[in-house]
Amino acid sequence: MKQKPLLAVYPGSFDPITYGHIDIIQRAVRVFPDLIVAIVGNPQKKTLFSYEERIEMIKNACPSVRIETFSGLLVDYVESIGAGVVIRGLRAISDFEYEFQMALSNAKMKPDIETLFMMSSEQYSYVSSRLIKEIAMLGGDVSEFVPEYVVKKLSEKLRLCN
Ligand code: PNS
Repeated sequence: MKQKPLLAVYPGSFDPITYGHIDIIQRAVRVFPDLIVAIVGNPQKKTLFSYEERIEMIKNACPSVRIETFSGLLVDYVESIGAGVVIRGLRAISDFEYEFQMALSNAKMKPDIETLFMMSSEQYSYVSSRLIKEIAMLGGDVSEFVPEYVVKKLSEKLRLCN
């Protein structure tokens, strides 16, 4: 009997989406064809881009992936949609502590939800949305790190902010 593929969630801020995220999405859908990219709405964390803008940039980069937004606890959202797996990308050792804390806390709250880590591909192991925003704000070229469409959105946004 063929098993139904597990529904998996790849959560994040995606402020904005980077080649590092895209790499994880493309590799994760090979294992979990029913992948949902879930954008967090976190009032404590001020984002440069709105929900709509972040969705638009993800759609542009990964047109066939399902995108949803959620607020509140990740594990509550994951449970509410009947998903069983959370995917997280792991870059360097510096990511480990935070990811470890999050995975263990989530497992404590909902033991049935599994967190699976995918190692970043080597060429993206240092790419982060935070650094990209900083480079772009200081007038640097970010086209090595994000798709052309995101480069355009970043320069539009930063022009408006200045
Ligand atoms: O892209 P990010 O900012 O590293 O993603 C972090 C994210 C969205 C996975 C994390 O902040 C999260 O799960 N937020 C939802 C609120 C929550 O469940 N917090 C408790 C985590 S143990």
